[in-house]
Amino acid sequence: MADFDVAVIGAGPGGYVAAIRCAQLGLSTACIDEWKNVQGKPSLGGTCLNVGCIPSKALLESSENFERVTHDFSAHGIAVDNASMDVSKMLARKDKIVSDFTLGIGQLFKKNKVTPVHGRAQLLGRDGDAWRIGVAGGNEVRAKHVIIATGSTPRVLPQAPFDSVRIVDNAGALSFAEVPKRLAIIGAGVIGLELGSVWRRLGAEVTLLEAMPNFIPAADEQVAKEALRAFTKQGLKIHLGVQIDSVAQDTDAVKILWRDAQGIAQELRADKLIVAVGRAPNTQGLGTETVGLKLDGAGRIEVDEHCRTNLPNVYAVGDVVRGPMLAHKASEEGVMVAELIAGQTGHCDLNLVPGIMYTAPEIAWVGKTEQQLKTSGIDYKAGQFPFVANGRARALGETTGFVKILADAKTDRILGVHIIGPMASELIQQAVLALAFSASSEDLARTIHAHPSLSEVVHEAALAVDKRTIHI
Ligand code: FAD
Ligand code: NAI
Repeated sequence: MADFDVAVIGAGPGGYVAAIRCAQLGLSTACIDEWKNVQGKPSLGGTCLNVGCIPSKALLESSENFERVTHDFSAHGIAVDNASMDVSKMLARKDKIVSDFTLGIGQLFKKNKVTPVHGRAQLLGRDGDAWRIGVAGGNEVRAKHVIIATGSTPRVLPQAPFDSVRIVDNAGALSFAEVPKRLAIIGAGVIGLELGSVWRRLGAEVTLLEAMPNFIPAADEQVAKEALRAFTKQGLKIHLGVQIDSVAQDTDAVKILWRDAQGIAQELRADKLIVAVGRAPNTQGLGTETVGLKLDGAGRIEVDEHCRTNLPNVYAVGDVVRGPMLAHKASEEGVMVAELIAGQTGHCDLNLVPGIMYTAPEIAWVGKTEQQLKTSGIDYKAGQFPFVANGRARALGETTGFVKILADAKTDRILGVHIIGPMASELIQQAVLALAFSASSEDLARTIHAHPSLSEVVHEAALAVDKRTIHI
């Protein structure tokens, strides 16, 4: 006999959401998680809540407010002399937001009757119809179905192993006790650009060293070009196509020897170094070999489109499987799997996962980029509209960027939407909805958008697909 209908391993946005949905559907559910906070207490929510999405957005907001006070307020006639930033207060605010949310998941578990189990879980094998899961400390959980949501961990660069003092990962970069004077970042991806923006706004001299020759390759090329221009203007020093030769430390700095895109040797000295070169799926110590759980070539748990693994009644979701490493994707897969286990239908379309960078300007996209459409030989039309021609954007004083809509040349069905500009993270949602309902650019163009609002830029971009913008 199994103790539970479902055991979820991992309480990040994949696992805790799956557990709550399972319980809502009447399945007895346990959720096993090993995370401990800096006080050594169990803390639910995984990477996202503890050291990812939530704390990074808290710091982005604080630092953006500081930048507004020091740079933008004067244009409104507001004079603020000697504005200063109390870093410890900023970090305490961030920590409070995190602890409120992580504790909140415990309350949601209570409300939904999910049994939380603290400790590291390991798959031991099968006994009748029950999977046996060992939990560090000697407990064993038995469940008919298992959902693995063990997430990911920062990828280690062999030349620059983390020491959590000067060479840090995302967790360290969210907790600098003071603003580093010189901050180096290896990897100009999402973490590098978001956290680089935070510390630059607070006064750090930030240099990003990126291996790829092109900037933000996942984004639409035109968006990436606009972003590079905007970030460079803000003062981020971004070097593309670099190779890191060595990283060493002396008494007062980290010394990075690197070669630029032309192969010329360079040296960078920094007070802190953030290494943000991607994340690796987390299957360590999970017992994958013991039970014969199949991994793919990248070390992720191999799953089909319904997140089924090669083992009966074992599913895997989130960062530990293929697809973008994003919280909302992990959660959606968690819901899908819970519903499948409960005998319902479940679905998660990876083409509809929006990608967002919470920089300023923000960057957001969904669907195909122009490059992808060209490569696949799909005939498309493009419509674009800039924020500078929008009244709300002018009132906000945030006029950089544009919205671009790509639609099928024959059917007019929207294939991709790309936004760089204010509140792109919120604006993208109407595009996600449009794609989910197979809308055409004509559908968006015929939808009434409130005036004055940033969403009018999306409307005008839809009108631009058939060359009928009004305000340009
Ligand atoms: P995780 O959140 O990593 O959770 C996995 C959990 O499983 C952890 O609690 C871990 O302790 C536990 N675990 C692992 N192995 C075991 C085991 N054997 N036994 C017991 N427990 C185990 N995504 C966004 O969508 N938006 C953002 O703004 C965003 N910002 C980010 C900022 C940063 C700095 C970082 C690092 C990431 C960010 N992400 C963001 C990505 C997001 O955090 C991840 O995609 C998301 O957390 C993945 O969820 P998950 O449930 O798959 O795994
Ligand atoms: P990333 O994949 O976004 O960026 C890593 C960058 O490092 C890439 O541009 C890569 O080319 C570069 N790189 C790799 N090896 C290198 C080397 N040796 N030298 C120099 N550069 C090198 O990964 P990142 O920033 O670590 O973030 C991990 C994941 O977390 C992201 O992929 C994303 O899924 C998630 N995340 C999401 C956020 C959001 O949704 N807003 C915010 C932060 C993270």
